[in-house]
Amino acid sequence: MHMVSLGKSGPKVSAIGLGCMGMSGMYGPSDRAESIATIHAALDAGITLLDSGDFYGMGHNEMLIGEALKGRNRDQVQLSVKFGAVRDPAGAWLGYDASPKAVRNFLAYTLQRLGVEYIDVYRPSRLDPDVPIEETIGAIADMVKAGYVRHIGLSEVGSETIRRAAAVHPISDLQIEYSLISRGVEDEILPVCRELGIAVTAYGVLSRGLISGHWQKDAARGGDFRAMSPRFQEGNVERNLALVEALRRIAEARGVTVAQIAIAWVAAQGDDIVPLVGARRRDRLAEALGAQAVQLDADDISAIESAVPKGAAAGARYPEAQLVHMDSERPK
Ligand SMILES: NC(=O)c1ccc[n+]([C@@H]2O[C@H](COP(=O)([O-])OP(=O)(O)OC[C@H]3O[C@@H](n4cnc5c(N)ncnc54)[C@H](OP(=O)(O)O)[C@@H]3O)[C@@H](O)[C@H]2O)c1
Repeated sequence: MHMVSLGKSGPKVSAIGLGCMGMSGMYGPSDRAESIATIHAALDAGITLLDSGDFYGMGHNEMLIGEALKGRNRDQVQLSVKFGAVRDPAGAWLGYDASPKAVRNFLAYTLQRLGVEYIDVYRPSRLDPDVPIEETIGAIADMVKAGYVRHIGLSEVGSETIRRAAAVHPISDLQIEYSLISRGVEDEILPVCRELGIAVTAYGVLSRGLISGHWQKDAARGGDFRAMSPRFQEGNVERNLALVEALRRIAEARGVTVAQIAIAWVAAQGDDIVPLVGARRRDRLAEALGAQAVQLDADDISAIESAVPKGAAAGARYPEAQLVHMDSERPK
């Protein structure tokens, strides 16, 4: 596994990371034993970066990762954890809290659930509209000084917030959606990250399964984010799956899969971009890892981008109610 530096201030991590969210209910039910086997298979294959959020299954995801790490060398793994989303016992989303007091509280519980003494990259999942980013980053910086956190990251924030955060403490990476059908980051956010030496940990590289080549219309069941996501809705999903078929023709001509082409395209955007794949089964993970062998030259990239032109996706990447709270989507 190729290793890369996560920005100019961050740790060395595997060039592909494993996102564990789907193992804790966000995409409907998942199999606990298979989830743990998938984490083990990822570590055995050389993946060192595991991404989680304390709100994924209200602590479930961290406890799952903690269990998977038992008997493993914790220091060879980089744990990336998001915090700030506030939920109730039924799982309802109540908003965000990234105040300094909340930072310390969330972190204390995260360390216990994961069974570790420090977090490699700790990040607010969204900008808290009531708390200046300087206060949130300052509070995490105190936790860095105290030894509980090694590096500070960001998630789904825009260029102005990135600059303000980086003025308080070095930022290792911005976690943000980036795929063939979600390229908004290219216009302003990615250039600012590059200027400041901040890496991008890209999520949704398969657009949550939509451009994996395996998605079947109407496959999302209750409790699955995709049941509410605009791109998966009737009228949009057919148009998006037509893009996937165009991609499939390119993949088949090369003897690889659609998912491998989609992941390889993100990886080809630069050494400072680390795709987080959301596999929750070992077969999906093996397919995703196969993307490492797919080298794309300029002709390949242009063929892929002709099959799936920038902006071709039908539907927004989040429901409107969530988009309005995303700093990364705020009109300039
Ligand atoms: N910062 C943020 O706001 C944010 C938001 C979302 C996610 N994330 C992080 O990013 C990670 C990845 O995001 P994502 O879940 O959207 O990722 P993704 O890789 O775009 O989609 C993952 C889904 O694609 C399907 N899939 C089909 N073939 C696959 C293959 N070969 N490899 C992997 N998945 C395949 C799987 O669905 P089935 O299992 O249903 O087949 C899987 O659940 C998350 O786990 C989370 O850690 C961060």
